[in-house]
Amino acid sequence: MSGGQTLLSLFRLDGKVALVTGAASGIGKATARLLADAGATVAIADIDADGARKVADELGEAARAYAFDLRDDQSITAMVAAVARDLGTVDILVNNAGIYPKYPLDALGQGDWQDMQQVNVWGCFVVLRECARLMREKGDGGRIINISSIGGLRTAVNDQIAYNASKAALDSMTYSAALDLAKHDILVNSICPGAVAPLDPKPHSAGHQPAKGPLVDAGRILLRRAATPDEVAAPILMLASAAGGYITGQAIVIDGGFSVS
Ligand SMILES: NC(=O)c1ccc[n+]([C@@H]2O[C@H](COP(=O)([O-])OP(=O)(O)OC[C@H]3O[C@@H](n4cnc5c(N)ncnc54)[C@H](O)[C@@H]3O)[C@@H](O)[C@H]2O)c1
Repeated sequence: MSGGQTLLSLFRLDGKVALVTGAASGIGKATARLLADAGATVAIADIDADGARKVADELGEAARAYAFDLRDDQSITAMVAAVARDLGTVDILVNNAGIYPKYPLDALGQGDWQDMQQVNVWGCFVVLRECARLMREKGDGGRIINISSIGGLRTAVNDQIAYNASKAALDSMTYSAALDLAKHDILVNSICPGAVAPLDPKPHSAGHQPAKGPLVDAGRILLRRAATPDEVAAPILMLASAAGGYITGQAIVIDGGFSVS
């Protein structure tokens, strides 16, 4: 094997099982496709059962679809148990599913706040806890990548107080889980995207407001455009593979230079 091939093989995932939540669309779908290309068997999990099945069909034998709801603990534990039953374990978790409604400051109610925390924080914690248990049982280490947001670290988009607080909590969960799980060689990191195209992925949903704020101000993104979902998936592959073998407890920003402008 040439030196080049040896280096590239660091990114291979042959024989690994990856669970990607929220993989019916957007960043999760691009990530599932890339991890499957790298050799992993991928569990495509989403509340959108039809969308998950469609992505799994596209990926063929390398993928299986699972329907679940982050608002329901039992649904999460049943989904992770079904993945373990069908595919043997979870070696890589991409904790990606999330919601991002915007609420003007005076319109944000306690129920809205709790819904956001339930999905983006508690639900993601239960997925992480269940997958970490499988990884510990197998005893072969593991990788957990929480998909956070630049909004958890910096001011980016208006009317996202509840969302930004949920992503800051997710990053905090990353740091704490990295500490607790390091002795099992389970590496835990956050990926914090800035703008990802399409910027408003669900423009027709009820109460939708177009994004406004520093992230969409002209000139703030040094690279002058939003990322493609593939440009977020690529660093996720690095963290999931041997290439990311010495990275844990980090919140890695993928924002085209927004946060330094
Ligand atoms: N798109 C961006 O600009 C951007 C920027 C920063 C962070 N993010 C984060 O990236 C992640 C993926 O977002 P995306 O942009 O691909 O959006 P998306 O809406 O295309 O994907 C989110 C997926 O999560 C699923 N989902 C929603 N609620 C769920 C629930 N209760 N249970 C199970 N699945 C559920 C949806 O069906 C959807 O397929 C999210 O955590 C989001 O906060 C996105």
